Amino acid sequence: MKMKGELKIIAIVSMALVHQLYMCESRNSLHPLILIPGAGGNQLEARLTKDYKSSSLFCSRWNPIMKDSQGWFRLWFSPTVLLAPYTDCFARRMTLHYEKDLDDYRNEIGVQTRVNQFGSVQSLLYLDPNLKKITTYMAGLVNSLEAIGYVRDTTLFGAPYDFRYGLAPEGHPCEVGSKFLKDLKELVEKASNSNEGKSVILVTHSLGGLFALQFLNRNTPSWRRHFIKHLVTLSTPWGGSVEGMRTFASGNTLGVPLVNPLRVRTEQRSSESNLWLLPNPTIYKHNKPIVITQYSNYTVEEIPRFLKDIGFEEGVYPYESRILPLIEHYEAPGVDLTCVIGGGVKTPDTLLYGEKGFDEQPEMGYGDGDGTVNMVSLRALEKLWAEEKNQTLETIELPGVSHKSILDDREALDVIIREISRINSMASRLRPHTC
Ligand SMILES: *[C@@H]1O[C@H](CO)[C@@H](O)[C@H](O)[C@H]1NC(C)=O
Ligand SMILES: *[C@@H]1O[C@H](CO)[C@@H](O)[C@H](O)[C@H]1NC(C)=O
Repeated sequence: MKMKGELKIIAIVSMALVHQLYMCESRNSLHPLILIPGAGGNQLEARLTKDYKSSSLFCSRWNPIMKDSQGWFRLWFSPTVLLAPYTDCFARRMTLHYEKDLDDYRNEIGVQTRVNQFGSVQSLLYLDPNLKKITTYMAGLVNSLEAIGYVRDTTLFGAPYDFRYGLAPEGHPCEVGSKFLKDLKELVEKASNSNEGKSVILVTHSLGGLFALQFLNRNTPSWRRHFIKHLVTLSTPWGGSVEGMRTFASGNTLGVPLVNPLRVRTEQRSSESNLWLLPNPTIYKHNKPIVITQYSNYTVEEIPRFLKDIGFEEGVYPYESRILPLIEHYEAPGVDLTCVIGGGVKTPDTLLYGEKGFDEQPEMGYGDGDGTVNMVSLRALEKLWAEEKNQTLETIELPGVSHKSILDDREALDVIIREISRINSMASRLRPHTC
């Protein structure tokens, strides 16, 4: 009897083991993955409170049609921005203010903003779900990830954020950006815990890569080792871009047709993250004039004087106190990193302003890059981290792929997916795979 009992127990135990092994194999063996978009890469909602004072009678009468019962409407993106009078109302509502007393940025008075569905990829797929064709953002990438077995809200997550705000160095308040990093940390832990403790792959586009690097370095090495499998950055402007200077000088419609760039210039200058995207003096050549005018030239080291001369003196203090300390040193996080970049696309590297000054779009000189970001910026980490022993860094350059087309070009997506599959097939460096 005793013998029989023991056998039974062994049988049950081994069945359980077999079951567990079977589960192990049949369950999705993918590492959970979180997408972090770039500037303008997710929907943003707003609502106006009674404190909101319109800049014009027109804007006060204009209220978005698609409001929910609590008054929230989609601020970004809405096609009304394309119609001149509405562009002004939109720009005013998107404007940030740096408050010296707070030492922080805030929204326009009377404008509340939020990202919807944090944790989900939903608001990164299309910027306007009613205009899918022309506002597609990460839908192609998400479809490709689903094709290799990723499942939304199970193994595939999204981290949308208010991309107008940036991050500040230690000692400076940064309410919105800090909240995002805190939410992102919780999302990483949740994604890992709900996937048998597997570490998480972060995949970012553009500005999202700058946030991700800060995020990693603001968490402890042991947290990073435990929770992060790999960082894959697409088109990250590690050292900003010359295009960033054009945005401040004469406005930049970022390819949105019909909009007069001067109508959105004030709003674009007010964005903290746009200051972050100016060319980084530790990465660009020091002595080369980037902005050339009839009266003066500006190198990357002269951005404060540049900001003053374009008529945006109020940007100088936050640039010097918040941005420069943030970008002067890039700590290597020791997390495996793959930079996927476009290359061989004509990219502005010099801006030539004529007689009418900064109110007219400049003539441009061009160099190598992804059409938006210069090659020296896309490849900056290779140089900065050449001596870092603990940092793996692989760069994959895709010829002819632009800053944005990296998210829907078929061949680019194939390369990205192959890399993500490879990462999934690699055993963790620092701890054994457990099921
Ligand atoms: C600005 O740079 C251009 C081209 O390098 C040069 O020809 C010009 O003399 C410079 N102008 C001033 C004011 O320094
Ligand atoms: C490199 O990583 C190892 C193991 O994690 C650590 O002990 C060591 O201090 C690191 N070295 C540097 C220079 O960061």
